Amino acid sequence: MKPPALVLSVVGARPNFIKLAPVARALGQRQVRHVIVHTGQHYDADMSDAFFRDLEIPEPDFNLAVGSGSHAQQTAAVMERLDPLCSELRPDVVLVYGDVNSTAAAALVAAKLGLPLGHVEAGLRSRDRTMPEEINRIVADRLSDILFAPSRDGYDNLLSEGIPPQRIQFVGNIMIDSLLRALPAARQLDASSRHGVRRGEYTVVTLHRPSNVDEPGVLQELLRALSDIAADRPVLFPVHPRTSRRMTALGFQAGARVQVFEPVPYLEMLSLVMSAGLVVTDSGGLQEETTFLGIPCLTVRPNTERPITCTEGTNKLVPPHRDAIVSAARAALAGTASAAPTIERWDGSAGERIAAVLCDGARFD
Ligand code: UD1
Repeated sequence: MKPPALVLSVVGARPNFIKLAPVARALGQRQVRHVIVHTGQHYDADMSDAFFRDLEIPEPDFNLAVGSGSHAQQTAAVMERLDPLCSELRPDVVLVYGDVNSTAAAALVAAKLGLPLGHVEAGLRSRDRTMPEEINRIVADRLSDILFAPSRDGYDNLLSEGIPPQRIQFVGNIMIDSLLRALPAARQLDASSRHGVRRGEYTVVTLHRPSNVDEPGVLQELLRALSDIAADRPVLFPVHPRTSRRMTALGFQAGARVQVFEPVPYLEMLSLVMSAGLVVTDSGGLQEETTFLGIPCLTVRPNTERPITCTEGTNKLVPPHRDAIVSAARAALAGTASAAPTIERWDGSAGERIAAVLCDGARFD
């Protein structure tokens, strides 16, 4: 492939922005035009603008303003609005990130227009097709010409699915690029003291998966578990808008020891997580961030597409049952701190490797 003159990145949701930042920075240092398209899947200031600011990502060149809707509506809206833009610009490469609806929609558009497609964070598999993200990952990977794997297991998953090895590039984990760059500023922010909690003595919680929050019985069980955990140590719970609506419907009352607040920007979240005693979550990115930082993590899910966080890191899967969560939390909080593992190519250079593949013809096996 000759070096591209125009690379077009498509992002839509919070975790995409964290993955875009290092790629935008590395491409910015090369002779290539990089166009950023925001689909508008996430549109609240605290779900979107705050991330662009903290991560120092240039303003998007285009915003498709698709907003919320069913999966089909959201996917269709991205396709309808992205297709004419891609037809007009004819980028040399389209980059998609992660596993959200915007990722799958943009992959379909690029593939149907015959535009070379790259997928950043390729090869992750939960093998659970009830998760919308798993479908999005499979679609993006099947259609991609260049697959940027974050971990050796991701690389191996792609090989075992019959993807030709020359298409796969083991560039490492792009989330860690953003984390390493942000750590000094996050440390300075000292968000825990602003929340009135002491370092190492509190639990950070995030929950937003449909399987955990859309069913009132399950959410109720999880909220009871949080109250129990908070009886021992304070709980800080920045709440995703999807979860917030469900909690209001259940009549949830925050107590003094469960602090409930709006979603926080990237640096503030990192600052809270790096000083936490424990994280309880169903997020993908937090499983990786806690592993890298050596912070104990309980993931409220039956499976994970990031198994390395369990085998080498601090992550533990727990079912959505009050007793199971509370006893795992007590065990984690009583345990001794574990050293953060060293994971191959989780080193802050994934963005640079991606740019080297695209612009310099580099290869990473
Ligand atoms: C999406 C991703 C998920 C990712 C998560 C990170 C898919 C299928 N899911 O889930 O993988 O972990 O983002 O946050 O793409 N809403 C707002 N304001 C916003 C955005 C959303 O109020 O800025 C509300 C809307 O009511 C919306 C709901 O949240 O219907 C869900 O948003 P959506 O983007 O559809 O999915 P997420 O749950 O955020």
